[in-house]
Amino acid sequence: MRKFVAGNWKMNGLRDSLENIAELATAHARARIDIMICPPATLLSKACEINGSLKIGAQDCHSAEKGAHTGDIAAQMIADCGATAVILGHSERRENHSETDAMVRDKTIAAQSAGLTAVVCIGETLEQREKGETLNILKTQLEASIPDEVDPDLLVVAYEPVWAIGTGKIPTREQIAEAHAFCRSTLLERLGSSANNVPLLYGGSVKASNADEIFALQNVDGALVGGASLSPTDFSPIIHALEATV
Ligand code: 13P
Repeated sequence: MRKFVAGNWKMNGLRDSLENIAELATAHARARIDIMICPPATLLSKACEINGSLKIGAQDCHSAEKGAHTGDIAAQMIADCGATAVILGHSERRENHSETDAMVRDKTIAAQSAGLTAVVCIGETLEQREKGETLNILKTQLEASIPDEVDPDLLVVAYEPVWAIGTGKIPTREQIAEAHAFCRSTLLERLGSSANNVPLLYGGSVKASNADEIFALQNVDGALVGGASLSPTDFSPIIHALEATV
């Protein structure tokens, strides 16, 4: 499986920021790993026009093919821009827009039907971790957010502990390794050996300073990076750290 590092720009970036994508595309033109930027929807089309080996993804899609859904974006529209993936079920969507696992599952079906790779996000809150519920939460989210008819070739799973996102707090190596091993075995039970090819990304306060040790962990196939993906100065060293593992 090719390792995969993705930058989730969230609600950041104006047209000027396209230069950052162009800079990354040039700097990593011969990368031996998959690199993706997920800019806000407003920049998706322009970002896809930048030549290079960088992949471009969206941050959400609607589950319906089209119709009366003001403000929403269909998976086919994302594919039509030239993007190849979409982040689904990010904890900020689950929290701010009350997205449920069932909604994420329906969006995953829609995304894959449009030929997009679904980057499905899961992760526990601090309260859930402190109550010892982490693995149960991950199991429920994996079971309910990933549809039975999933295409494993168009699936990426991102483990993002909610309490580690944007906080500078990071789980211990043991906690990350445990969560990733659990996700792998749960996916293997569900999907069979094809689950070995589903990239498992870690997300939450990944920086150049901690990337090496996170990427050294078994079953960590890359990262979903927020804040540190906004500037090439911060993101490039993370890309290099992942590349050094292949
Ligand atoms: P940070 O890297 O800013 O903690 O964000 C992680 C994240 O939410 C990526 O989707």
